Order: sequence, then structure tokens, then C-alpha cells
Amino acid sequence: MAQKKQTIKTIGILTGGGDCPGLNAVIRAVTKTAINRYDLRVIGILDGYLGLIEKRMKELSYNDVSNILTQGGTILGTSNKADPLKFPVTLDGKCRLCDVRDNCLHNAEEMGLDAIVAIGGDGTMAGAASLIQTGLRFMGVPKTIDNDLPGTEVTFGFNTAVMTATDAIDKVHTTASSHHRVMIVEVMGRYAGWIALHAGVAGGSDVILIPEISYTLDVICDFVRQRSRRGKRYSIITVAEGAKEKGGKMVVKKTVKNSPDPIRLGGIANKLAYDIEQQAKLECRAVILGHVQRGGTPSAFDRTLATSFGNYALEQLMAGHNNRLVVRRHGELDTVPLSTIAGKIRTVPRNHQLIEAARAVGTCFGN
Ligand code: F6P
Repeated sequence: MAQKKQTIKTIGILTGGGDCPGLNAVIRAVTKTAINRYDLRVIGILDGYLGLIEKRMKELSYNDVSNILTQGGTILGTSNKADPLKFPVTLDGKCRLCDVRDNCLHNAEEMGLDAIVAIGGDGTMAGAASLIQTGLRFMGVPKTIDNDLPGTEVTFGFNTAVMTATDAIDKVHTTASSHHRVMIVEVMGRYAGWIALHAGVAGGSDVILIPEISYTLDVICDFVRQRSRRGKRYSIITVAEGAKEKGGKMVVKKTVKNSPDPIRLGGIANKLAYDIEQQAKLECRAVILGHVQRGGTPSAFDRTLATSFGNYALEQLMAGHNNRLVVRRHGELDTVPLSTIAGKIRTVPRNHQLIEAARAVGTCFGN
């Protein structure tokens, strides 16, 4: 699988990192385009980079990818623990983190892979960027519910996650107003507040807390108490899992050994519920949405985006481009070099237009 090879006869495809609605739609688009239009062999690599490291792969036929457009998850399996640069290997009874990129190259060559379509987020793209150095050829497709990949204005999976979170926010309104409570809905997003911002605005949240704007407890308590005094005896707070108090730290739920990013956030809603109850003397409840945001059938938007991304990725490879990430900018598809985005994340600008619009309709951002 050397860079000099021009003709592509066999492509590999893998899904890395957390699962996300729309993965199967990309697998389908890549595979169908490859088989229909170019008569290529398509090899599905199982469980992300793990399958490449352990040589677990299977050929995908047209039928294998039929009827998967609407399915959540990934038919190939995924892993957010396998980093080819730091893979745990047990030698003489001791576990060491080893660079196993040569194994990946060897396995790819044995399977005859001329290029690999890697569907994933920042960890997967960082893995691809490191494997490119061995001579492997890649085309990245941007996936993540967090919407935090640089270079692209949108990733597939985000829209579905926002719809799920919005639906949950809509539903907690009932309990909030009936019981005169502060309901706090915690959404995912890691270090970026995209899901919280969009779902918070769509669900008409009174307070939206995102990692990019540290909050002050006094500001939130004054805001919900004032609402109470004005007769609005309930409030809805949407909080991103990465939000933190000014001068405080993000709430870490657990650390996952051998993951490229071992930190797992979660629990800020519980802390806020406790703090607001103590200070504002209003009854609070926390709802942590967690992985329901990653599940279910992809929205129509994500299905179409995933189909366009998958088709474009394959067309780009066939046109001789590689080691790039498919992106969407100003509504148009394009690519950027993988090396320019690997290891970086895209957070919400503090002056984002949607923040300004939300402030204008009276939303508090806790600052
Ligand atoms: O990156 C997607 C994501 O769902 C984040 O929003 C969340 O912080 C993380 O993955 C959770 O990871 P895991 O599935 O390993 O708990």
C-alpha cells in the first residue's frame, strides 16, 4: 500500500471512536459507490483501528450494506480505545504501550488495501494522521455528535443528537411547570458546547451552560429566583457535560485506560442541582441524557449528509486525492489535509450568532 500506487482496486473502511447516528449511512454510500461505479473490492475493518491491528476484516458485498441507511450504530463495530501509536501489548508478563503502526501496514498490505476510508472524530483522524507516515493512504469522514471537528461546519450525527436532546428538554417542561422546579438537563459534547447551545435554544431553555463560558452560581440563582418572582415558578437549564464554574473544574465521571482521550465527563447536572437548591432554595432535579443522544435512527438531515460525505470520500480517492478529511464549508463539500486538523477540536466562539440571538430572547449563559 505505497503512496506511489495510483490505481485503486480495493478499499478498506473503518468506523472509529464513539458510535453515532449516520455511520451506517456513510458505510452504505462508500460501499455502494465503490461497487456500483468503480467495481472495487470493499473490505470492512472491524472495531476501528483494533481490526486493523488484529487483522479482523471482512469483505462487504452490496447486500451487506442494503437496508442499513436508517440503522443507528455501525455494522462494522467501533472502538475508542485503540491507538496504533500507543497500543497495550503484554511482553514477558508486563503490559507496555507500543507503536503498532507497522502491524497495521502489514495487515493492510496482506488484505490488498489501496486506501482506507476512516469515519471518525478527532481521535480517529489523529490515528489516520499517524498511520499516513507508514505509507498508508486515507480519506477521513467527519463523524461526531459533538460537532467539534475543525475544518468542517458540521459533522453527521450532530443533528440527530440535537433532536434527541431537544425532545428531552421539551418533555421535562411538564414536570418543571407542574412541580415548580428547576429541571437541569445535562447533554454530551465533551469540551465543546454545540449540543447544549443548539438543543438549549431549540428547547427554549432559560439557562444554557457551555464549556466555553464559565458560569457563576450567583448569576444563575439570581436569574431563576427573579423568574420565580415574576410568576414563572420553574426554570429549565441545559448544561453541557463540559461546563464548569468560574475558577472551578469540569466534572469527570471516570477515566478510561488506554483511550486516546481517557477523560469521560459527566455529573455537572447533579452538582448544579445541589448547589442551586442550597443557594436559591428552589427544588431542583437533574436529568443526565448520556448515550441516548448517540442512539436511534439518524435524522433525515444526517442521512443525507452522511450519504454525501461517503460518496464524496470515495470520489476523492478515485480522483487521486488522499490523506484528507471531507468537510462541508458554506454548504459545499471540500477536503482539508488530515495533518491540519489532527488532534485539534472546534469549540463554540463566545460571540457565536446563536449565543447573541439566545441572549436577545432572554436566555442566561451563567455569566
Ligand atoms: O464524542 C462523543 C461522546 O459521546 C461525547 O459526547 C462523550 O463525552 C463521550 O463520547 C462518551 O464516551 P464513552 O462512550 O466512552 O462513554
